[in-house]
Amino acid sequence: MSSSKPKPPILFFLLLLFLLASLAASQEFTYKGFAGGGGNPNLTLNGIAEVWPDGILRLTNETSRLLGHAFYPAPLRLLDRNGTAVSFSTEFVVTVVPEFAQLGGHGYAFVIAPDPRLPGSLPSQYLGLFSAAADGNATNHVFAIEFNTVQDFEFGDINDNHVGVDLNSLVSNKSASAEPVNLKAGDIVTWIDYDGAARLLNVSILLL
Ligand SMILES: *[C@@H]1O[C@H](CO)[C@@H](O)[C@H](O)[C@H]1NC(C)=O
Ligand SMILES: *[C@@H]1O[C@H](CO)[C@@H](O)[C@H](O)[C@H]1NC(C)=O
Ligand SMILES: *[C@@H]1O[C@H](CO)[C@@H](O)[C@H](O)[C@H]1NC(C)=O
Ligand SMILES: *[C@@H]1O[C@H](CO)[C@@H](O)[C@H](O)[C@H]1NC(C)=O
Ligand SMILES: *[C@@H]1O[C@H](CO)[C@@H](O)[C@H](O)[C@H]1NC(C)=O
Ligand SMILES: *[C@@H]1O[C@H](CO)[C@@H](O)[C@H](O)[C@H]1NC(C)=O
Repeated sequence: MSSSKPKPPILFFLLLLFLLASLAASQEFTYKGFAGGGGNPNLTLNGIAEVWPDGILRLTNETSRLLGHAFYPAPLRLLDRNGTAVSFSTEFVVTVVPEFAQLGGHGYAFVIAPDPRLPGSLPSQYLGLFSAAADGNATNHVFAIEFNTVQDFEFGDINDNHVGVDLNSLVSNKSASAEPVNLKAGDIVTWIDYDGAARLLNVSILLL
């Protein structure tokens, strides 16, 4: 039995064009491009993520096994004083630009995490979220919505074009096929709404 399967190279980069978010407790912000004042992006960047002068945030490029992170620069309160998770909403646009139309890299994710460096995180199938050792550890305190363009059997991925809810692990707690949307086909608008009182998460995507 063969124990290693060759992975397709990572052959795309991502452009995050626009982001707006709000938390029920009245913390609200909008990015109309990420260039920021005086050319300083108002984001905490890590890995090879960079902001172009026109305000586009590029997370990765065509070279294999690279990752990029971009986080809102200030901590956000996500628990009410009485311990209830706050409601939040966000809307953003991401474009995957594959070098070859049918051959994508591994994907991207919306992340809420205690540390913007996501220490120890690895590229490729780890989506810049976890390491092999940290995957599944409850002390990660990482919530992510993954937009996954490669089927990784080690994490039980349902196909090579899906959205998953990740709680401390790349083995998604819930996942759904992105069909009929192809995550690699162009500008994808994403809405993520969480109702803290109802504990209801709603993720919607649309190909522009
Ligand atoms: C950066 O974001 C923080 C948090 O929202 C805000 O307080 C600050 O004014 C922003 N700075 C710039 C230069 O936009
Ligand atoms: C991608 O970025 C890395 C790090 O900046 C760089 O070394 C590499 O040459 C870039 N690849 C391409 C294809 O531009
Ligand atoms: C927690 O506090 C919020 C206001 O901050 C309130 O709306 C909510 O009902 C409270 N939840 C519980 C379980 O007490
Ligand atoms: C989980 O992470 C904590 C803190 O980083 C570490 O102490 C612990 O050993 C990890 N557990 C496992 C099973 O790797
Ligand atoms: C999903 O998360 C919930 C809450 O932590 C847990 O009870 C459930 O077992 C998880 N399901 C899977 C398939 O991981
Ligand atoms: C989920 O969000 C979409 C888009 O905003 C909306 O059309 C739909 O009604 C929502 N579903 C639920 C169950 O809230």
